[in-house]
Amino acid sequence: MSDEINVTLSNLLQEDRQFPPTPAFAAQANGKASLFDQAEHDRLGFWAEQARNLDWETDFTEVLDWSNAPFAKWFVGGKLNIAYNCVDRHVHAGHGDQVAIRFEGEPGDRRDITYRELMAEVSQAANALTELGVVAGDRVAIYLPMIPEATIAMLACARIGAIHSVVFAGFSAEALRSRIEDANAKLVITADGQNRRGSAMDLKSAVDEAVDASPSVENVLVVKRTGTDVTWHDRDVWWHDLVGRQSIDHTPEAFDAETPLFILYTSGTTGKPKGILHTSGGYLTQASYTHKMVFDLKPETDVYWCTADVGWVTGHSYIVYGPLANRVTQVIYEGTPDTPNKDRWWDIIERHGVTLLYTAPTAIRTFMKWGDHLPQSHDLSSLRLLGSVGEPINPEAWMWYREVIGGNRCPIVDTWWQTETGAMMIAPLPGVAACKPGSAMRALPGIGMAVVDQEGTPLGNGSGGFLVLTQPWPSMLRGIWGDNQRYVDTYWSRWPQYYFAGDGAKLDNDGALWLLGRVDDVMNVSGHRISTTEVESALVSHPEVAEAAVVGASDPTTGQGIVAFVILRGSTEDAGELIKELRNHVAREIGPIAKPRQVMIVQELPKTRSGKILRRLLQDVAEHRDVGDSTTLADPAVMKLISEGLASSSSDD
Ligand code: PRX
Repeated sequence: MSDEINVTLSNLLQEDRQFPPTPAFAAQANGKASLFDQAEHDRLGFWAEQARNLDWETDFTEVLDWSNAPFAKWFVGGKLNIAYNCVDRHVHAGHGDQVAIRFEGEPGDRRDITYRELMAEVSQAANALTELGVVAGDRVAIYLPMIPEATIAMLACARIGAIHSVVFAGFSAEALRSRIEDANAKLVITADGQNRRGSAMDLKSAVDEAVDASPSVENVLVVKRTGTDVTWHDRDVWWHDLVGRQSIDHTPEAFDAETPLFILYTSGTTGKPKGILHTSGGYLTQASYTHKMVFDLKPETDVYWCTADVGWVTGHSYIVYGPLANRVTQVIYEGTPDTPNKDRWWDIIERHGVTLLYTAPTAIRTFMKWGDHLPQSHDLSSLRLLGSVGEPINPEAWMWYREVIGGNRCPIVDTWWQTETGAMMIAPLPGVAACKPGSAMRALPGIGMAVVDQEGTPLGNGSGGFLVLTQPWPSMLRGIWGDNQRYVDTYWSRWPQYYFAGDGAKLDNDGALWLLGRVDDVMNVSGHRISTTEVESALVSHPEVAEAAVVGASDPTTGQGIVAFVILRGSTEDAGELIKELRNHVAREIGPIAKPRQVMIVQELPKTRSGKILRRLLQDVAEHRDVGDSTTLADPAVMKLISEGLASSSSDD
């Protein structure tokens, strides 16, 4: 690990520009500097106050029980219903006519859903789940495109105390199957198809394949989205038939604050994805608090748009739970940014008058490549704040975002957090911070963070090391589904008093935080976490592959690109064809997001005497650098062999 941190640290740029908010923005901001003082003075009292912005059926008696660390209990004894907090209470407060969701399908169809309509449909869906025999504690897998039913399905589960496990609809049948199996899901909610790049893509057949091999699944609830022909099974039920005929009345039951809300699978350093478990009261407290403070949400006037997919944690916390708890009006868009044209996003912002935009650096860099004329041909003056998440944002992309999209007037909030943290941890308060291009700035009020060295000693300003979280936080994961030991080992064993995030970071001379990427074998491709081992396992499952090593090589658009080195079992006549086949094989096994950018056929892999693959050296090759120190190799000639053999075998079409 030490080698890797040195490599990433050396990539750090010196950046001195600062952009404070305008006095007008600062004056109206939700989050003032006093929040820091308040949280510092009484951290738990501060969190109790944030929690009380929610509607509790039974008040909590204790803010935090950390006696069984690292297994936290927040808001002990409190009872609430998550869906009630996200929907019903706004209707009861007289906001039933406010639009909650402005849906825009890729083909251009539109659907506005008010809070009153959302309450009716979530209630119907909750009644439907009950009719299917789903009860509190059951697991429901959701495999849906970005359509309102995804949000409705999640809220319906929450309403009856069922645990949802959303699986990104771009994942393969096998990825879906393994997640269904791990959680023992009883129901799968899906759609006939999804609109991507101008055509209807089949979704249901992947579910059929996964469910055929999943004995725990009793029913599949199918939303009709594209009208694509589907194969029908006895277990299948149409959403419009079942949900459509339910009563719009449903009395939400209050559940304990620690009731599991969802499982979300994410890649770790082994081949098996981890089912990150989140619970109710603490999660909703921090998701809504951060959404309100970091995006400065004004429910009466803002139009918010988070471009993430509900298949990732950003969609959970900043499309569904945080925003709806705060009574947001938000845009949900189904499709890709280049359909029908490459200005689709700017068109959406102009037509809907979007004020708050939350997206990922990969998207920003792609738009930079496509050219300034596209955003410049639209009126983006409604925007008043911009957010970034998922990977480090380079200063160049930050400045472009500020100038070309934000017209030099919008604060940019670079938000660091993880599936495991559930909500934002490090981000500027937009009315307070003088932001530096590319820095996530400092921990939010109520959050404890440090940068430590190998021994776990906190470092001062001007130093780089490992990012840790020093205090439990309300939306922290409560464990890994079915594997609590893995939870302890992964996050709490390196330095038992700290949560180890897996990221390298540096504090600059002013104490601003700069994220430097992962320090473990996890890649970040377009803001998505993919483990090197997962891709390696997929490759070696191909009959022609004997051995594989995978690295994330830096990529100007996607942050990192996946580069695979493979040793074949035999020889091949047509390397080009086989490479194509291997790339497609990985896409089939995991999903298109894991398709290697490049596959290189090699004779040997660089290994230490104990057999550990030295990925660092392969990364040098993949990034076209001189190969670093290879003295620990069992066979020092290997790197020469690899470099020589590459010209003939690489492919990156
Ligand atoms: O490496 C960090 C990077 O994404 C990882 C978390 O990935 P995931 O659980 O998929 O959640 C992504 C969305 C919250 C982190 O360990 N990361 C996330 N946000 C940032 C970031 N790296 C730098 N800057 C960020 N703002």
